Amino acid sequence: MNKVNQTVLSGVQPSGNLHVGNYLGAIKNFVTMQKNYDCYFCVVDLHAITIKQNPIELYNNTLEVVATYIASGIDPTKNVIFNQSSVSMHAELAWILNCVTRMGWLKRMTQFKDKAGADKENASSGLFTYPTLMAADILLYKATHVPVGNDQKQHLELTRDIAQKFNRDYNCGNFFPIPEPIIEDNTSRIMSLKDGQQKMSKSDPSENSRISLTDDTDSIVKKIKKAKTADIVMPDNLKKVIELKEVNNLLNLYSGFSDIDKVKLIEQYSGQKFSSFKLDLSELLVSKIEPISNEIKNLMNDKNYLLNVMKDGKNKATEVAKKTINETYDIIGLVRYEA
Ligand code: TYM
Repeated sequence: MNKVNQTVLSGVQPSGNLHVGNYLGAIKNFVTMQKNYDCYFCVVDLHAITIKQNPIELYNNTLEVVATYIASGIDPTKNVIFNQSSVSMHAELAWILNCVTRMGWLKRMTQFKDKAGADKENASSGLFTYPTLMAADILLYKATHVPVGNDQKQHLELTRDIAQKFNRDYNCGNFFPIPEPIIEDNTSRIMSLKDGQQKMSKSDPSENSRISLTDDTDSIVKKIKKAKTADIVMPDNLKKVIELKEVNNLLNLYSGFSDIDKVKLIEQYSGQKFSSFKLDLSELLVSKIEPISNEIKNLMNDKNYLLNVMKDGKNKATEVAKKTINETYDIIGLVRYEA
């Protein structure tokens, strides 16, 4: 199929423990979109350091995200895979966008409130301006489409506001295109296996709350067996299922990995105890995750290969990023010299 001449950019933080939420909410879409779009898949290491990281783990986790992209089916020869800090224009554009973004806009961001917790005065200022760096990631490549999970929706809306304000303030037409978020209906917010009110998260202290992409068969089976459901049998309609948050979440997982419509799955399991549904779900998850997990392990044993993919990505990304930064400096009136 021919590409549509539109650009996708998305990113994943190298904060470890990538899980099925990251996969279904974002990475699965990256794999699909690579067919039709020019794609930039970034490992957002500068975002990760808004919270203190262990340097050795950060380095390894960065390579592991690259391995996960490739193991999930992203072709490194046809897409640009790179780490954010290797292209310095991300930080340069972020500064410029900080000067366009209003304090009030940032103060409304719910992710900052969640991540900073009770002691906001002690959060890094990087965590507060996190969304402007994210806007820079997207606008640097003039991305038109951004596949993300539901928790990034507000950041995407902010990016759109920032792009519009820049275009208006500097009277530069549609210099920055207004990007469209691509958010799946059922899988954009996969919940914890222990609590249907909490998002599945890399930072949840309980391993049993999530299925990681590096989990082996035994852990997947055990975690699904333990996953919370309900004291009744599988209901016979979607409305009732949605009221049972944990059950709905497991059905979303099943549907996301099998591409079978949720209503069909409800028909298939209605009136049955959850044990047989859980058995089928763990079988499905093992069949889909095991090949990814094995490939991540293989790739992590070949770090030179991963570093070469990233270096190639950095070179390709830098070419585009440099052009946008030069144009941006000219628009603003910053003096620069041709190399
Ligand atoms: P991060 O690293 O937290 O998560 C990576 C992607 O996974 C999605 N996600 C989920 N989707 C469904 N269910 C869940 N439980 C779940 N948890 C996470 C996230 O929405 C995300 O799409 N700020 C971003 C990274 C970023 C970015 C960007 C994304 C930086 N620059 C530019 C897009 C474009 C983040 O923290 O993702």
